[in-house]
Amino acid sequence: MAKFYPLKVKEVRKETADCRSVSFDIPEELSKEFKFTQGQYLTLRTEIDGEEVRRSYSLCTSPLDGDLRVAIKEVPGGLFSTFANRELKAGDVLEAMPPMGNFFSELKPENEKNYVAFAAGSGITPIISILKTVMEIEPKSTFTLFYGNKYASSVIFKEEIEGLKNSFFQRVRVFHFFSREIPDIDLFHGRLDKGKCEALFKGIIDPRNIDEYFLCGPEEMIFSVKEALEEVGVESKKVHFELFTTGNGKKKKVRVQREENKDKVCEVFIKDGGNSFGFNLPFDTESILDAALARGADLPFACKGGVCCTCKAKITEGEVEMEVNYALEPEEVEAGYVLACQAFPKSPKVVIDFDEAL
Ligand code: FES
Repeated sequence: MAKFYPLKVKEVRKETADCRSVSFDIPEELSKEFKFTQGQYLTLRTEIDGEEVRRSYSLCTSPLDGDLRVAIKEVPGGLFSTFANRELKAGDVLEAMPPMGNFFSELKPENEKNYVAFAAGSGITPIISILKTVMEIEPKSTFTLFYGNKYASSVIFKEEIEGLKNSFFQRVRVFHFFSREIPDIDLFHGRLDKGKCEALFKGIIDPRNIDEYFLCGPEEMIFSVKEALEEVGVESKKVHFELFTTGNGKKKKVRVQREENKDKVCEVFIKDGGNSFGFNLPFDTESILDAALARGADLPFACKGGVCCTCKAKITEGEVEMEVNYALEPEEVEAGYVLACQAFPKSPKVVIDFDEAL
């Protein structure tokens, strides 16, 4: 069962005017639970003004650094991000779930791979974790980073990126793009979109020579870069992507009940932490996660938007359909995994196992 553990904040560091990185003290007895892979994220939970708030944030460190650290950019009106940027301090305690996510590829010292990453804004967070780890583990691999921001002043981890470029100058290339500033070279002005990719493919990289792509940023960027890669024949298995978490962790997933589903009810059985419980859920009403939470279950979730993967579970009997899925790989869906926040019953009985997802 994925559960929350109280972690003490070790340091809150200002990265830019509206971004703080937060590191945690990991007690010896939790070192196994909080081991992570580059590109993973933490789901954090706290109470703000009497309300439970949970959010997922990507780790920005390498697993080899011995530093468990996430970066949190303040979003206008964002409850957790405003709290983290303005109030959180060393010594405070937040609750955290063990690291999760599959935004990574397996690294091996003998690999000689070419990696390319496209990041926008705080999408740099998991990318810098991947970049640092690749450099440390694969001495023969190269890494090209295309990083988009509004202004030069909004570049997160600016010095760290420069440091990596200097330390690994034969293997790391970094190109910055600004949408609200006019750099000297026209190519570096504007957003990372399909047109920009086409220009980059002419002069900076040969997209067919790249072994792994990592994309992290808002939906428009991800989908336009993916489309540009598909058009030049890059296989989709080489393209890994992570969307920004867009949900607010409270929104209920509702959908319009289809005529053919009126009067249909599913018997849902939830397995979690070795326990199981069941309830009846009319078709097309609530997601399985919402329905279980409403009945008092304590299940893992964060975004409720099909993005973060925290609510991953396995269907061991019956069938469900997902509204959206930005988090699971096709092979996982094939193997029966679902995002419970997006799962609506499709058969009269569904057994969903959260323990199988770990
Ligand atoms: S809670 Fe984030 S994908 Fe379901």
